[in-house]
Amino acid sequence: MAKANNSSNDIWKAWQSYSGFENRSFRFTDDMRPLFYKWLGISPNSYVLDAGCGTGVFARYLAVDLDKGHIDGFDINQGFIEYGNKKLKELNLTEKVTLKIDDGFDLSYADNSYDAVTNYTYIGVLSDPVAGLREMIRVCKPGGVVSCVVATNSIPPIVWQGDYPFDGANELQSLYRTESNIFSKYARKATDLKQNQEWHALRYPKMFDICGLKHIAIHPFAYTFNYNDETYPLAYRQELLKSEITDDINWITSRYTEKKDVYIEHGFGEDKFNRLIELMKRKLDYVSEHFADDNSFEWIGGFNFIVTGIKE
Ligand SMILES: C[S@@+](CC[C@H](N)C(=O)[O-])C[C@H]1O[C@@H](n2cnc3c(N)ncnc32)[C@H](O)[C@@H]1O
Repeated sequence: MAKANNSSNDIWKAWQSYSGFENRSFRFTDDMRPLFYKWLGISPNSYVLDAGCGTGVFARYLAVDLDKGHIDGFDINQGFIEYGNKKLKELNLTEKVTLKIDDGFDLSYADNSYDAVTNYTYIGVLSDPVAGLREMIRVCKPGGVVSCVVATNSIPPIVWQGDYPFDGANELQSLYRTESNIFSKYARKATDLKQNQEWHALRYPKMFDICGLKHIAIHPFAYTFNYNDETYPLAYRQELLKSEITDDINWITSRYTEKKDVYIEHGFGEDKFNRLIELMKRKLDYVSEHFADDNSFEWIGGFNFIVTGIKE
């Protein structure tokens, strides 16, 4: 078999920050778990593999309804796995979940080991998704379900930044929307991450087909999070929002710096960028001080889908 193009590995081995992955836990609700089990072919006694598990957020979520079953997760980044293992200890989940370092292009697991093999937004970061998928299929038992849960980049996330009463809040909404449109249409960094352009998410059903999977199905999965939802503790919601604003400030700054010429070409010059960051910082200050008494109803949402196929 041809050697996989593993040029994305160096980037992921060196990746430092995982707060964004941990913050995703609200995407996985108790309501959805039975549907995930049904679609991903998991029963309470299944042996499941979570590929490219990061810090293990998805594995921890799936593990909750296991009885005699077990979830193994692997990732190429040592820091993510170390943090994930610390989390498992804290949550008393070490009996149900095992996380370890492994390379998805060359897995150490034996052929036909798992009842179900899944991943959350892993396959799309690979420089050679077909090779990654073939390894997932190899370690799945015949009759098992192989699946990819995918975030689609073709539909921008929904972000309503609340109706906060600080000076410049409306201007922030508008600048934020403009910047994110320019980013998704013209300045996206996919090539810099060495992601594969040929096998983008919308072609996964075809990719499953050429890799020999059968009964290919596509399932819808959307998520929302309302920062005013009182079923979550106030401190959690406030910290989540603050960390997301901070991550956003860093992420927008890095992408603007890297693709400044593209932004300028589309009418988003230094003055607009500086103003956007100033307003985001103002919002961060406001949220730090007033979140407890504010009813601005900020919320976010996104669309994912799940492609599944059966190994013959
Ligand atoms: C977008 S992150 C998703 C992480 C996790 N599934 C989650 O949703 O929180 C992609 C993950 O793939 C991992 N990854 C990239 N290339 C890999 C490889 N060759 N083998 C194993 N993991 C890899 C990265 O380290 C990263 O944790």
